Amino acid sequence: MSGDNHMVNMYRAIRQETLNICHSLELEDHTIQPSSFVSPPKWHLAHTTWFFEELFLKREEDNFKSYDANFFFLFNSYYNSLGEFIPQQKRGILSRPTLRNTLKYREYVDNKMLEIIARDRLTPAQKSLIEIGLHHEQQHQELLYMDIKYILHSSNAVYQEGKIDSAQQATRNWEFFEENLREIGAQNWGFSYDNENPRHKIYMYPFLISDTLVSNGEYLDFINSGAYKKHNYWLSLGWDFIRRNNIKHPLYWKYHDKRWYEYTLNGLQELDLNAPVVHISFFEADAFAAYKQARLPTEFEMEIFLYTREDEAKTALSLHPFDITSAKRQVWCWTSSSYAAYPGFKAFKGPLFEYNKKFMCNQYVLRGGAVVTPQSHYRDSYRNFYLPSQRWMFSGIRLAKDLCENY
Ligand SMILES: [Fe+2]
Repeated sequence: MSGDNHMVNMYRAIRQETLNICHSLELEDHTIQPSSFVSPPKWHLAHTTWFFEELFLKREEDNFKSYDANFFFLFNSYYNSLGEFIPQQKRGILSRPTLRNTLKYREYVDNKMLEIIARDRLTPAQKSLIEIGLHHEQQHQELLYMDIKYILHSSNAVYQEGKIDSAQQATRNWEFFEENLREIGAQNWGFSYDNENPRHKIYMYPFLISDTLVSNGEYLDFINSGAYKKHNYWLSLGWDFIRRNNIKHPLYWKYHDKRWYEYTLNGLQELDLNAPVVHISFFEADAFAAYKQARLPTEFEMEIFLYTREDEAKTALSLHPFDITSAKRQVWCWTSSSYAAYPGFKAFKGPLFEYNKKFMCNQYVLRGGAVVTPQSHYRDSYRNFYLPSQRWMFSGIRLAKDLCENY
């Protein structure tokens, strides 16, 4: 199979997967925006297409005719260098284009892209641009799961049928990593984003890291201990955040008739005490670590730990995490590391310099992937990042400790 046949197959499969994720949605689910941080699925379908049209077809293909000139403003996410765009919080006011027209837009762009890829005359720079476009699409596939869950949770709607298997109880062990000079960042093979580069050396002090994720049961103990009412566990901003927003439990937990339930993509389920806690803010993760007299790992400790663990998610068919002992692709683990540039960092060239760099302020890094992270998109050097107050991503906790004589 030639390289470009491989790219044709990759392009088809990844674009199709986005449609598959939306397949069970109703028309109404595609258009609403229940919060400013959520994008309607219809917007994701169009924006991922806009990415190929605007950044590839319009620039690389002579005589390319745009599908609809109005779409530029509607589906540019945040690229100031390209032009004006609709504010993020207004993505839900668009009744047009219709879903049907949005799907036609995808088809139009896909036909053109596949024709170009099949011509087998792509330069290395063009191939790399398409590769970024496909990883961008996979990033939006995870965002789609996050947004669909948020959209459906108010009505406890079932996204996919089936009962989720109960998780196994696990005992926590602490893995020890000795003091050492280590290398961090993207390996020199395969795709990586600019923010994972360059690979560089870092001196690491000895640390202990938990081989299990924090479970719902442990988190429930934290709640029942009155932790949401005790300021001493909380960062000042975190204490303000939970009080101002009346936060008393993880995002999708519900208390009803003296029982705890959790909304999942399989609908409302009784809380599985052995499953990993998920959909919590950095503030809650940090407070939980303080309650346990531990701390959150740094992103470097997470990366070193992940490289020693070969396990992959065992939950391919379940969209609810249940394997507390898995290191990878169960829940994204909050780290104590602020999202910042690595030494020697160089942003992507051209308009894509805005892809990651401009978000390097006031956000924290999460590591390890989640059940909704596409497998071929995930790498151990992958740096996910969110505001410390955000909770709608599949975020959880892995504890770490310093090594001193008290432990
Ligand atoms: Fe995007």
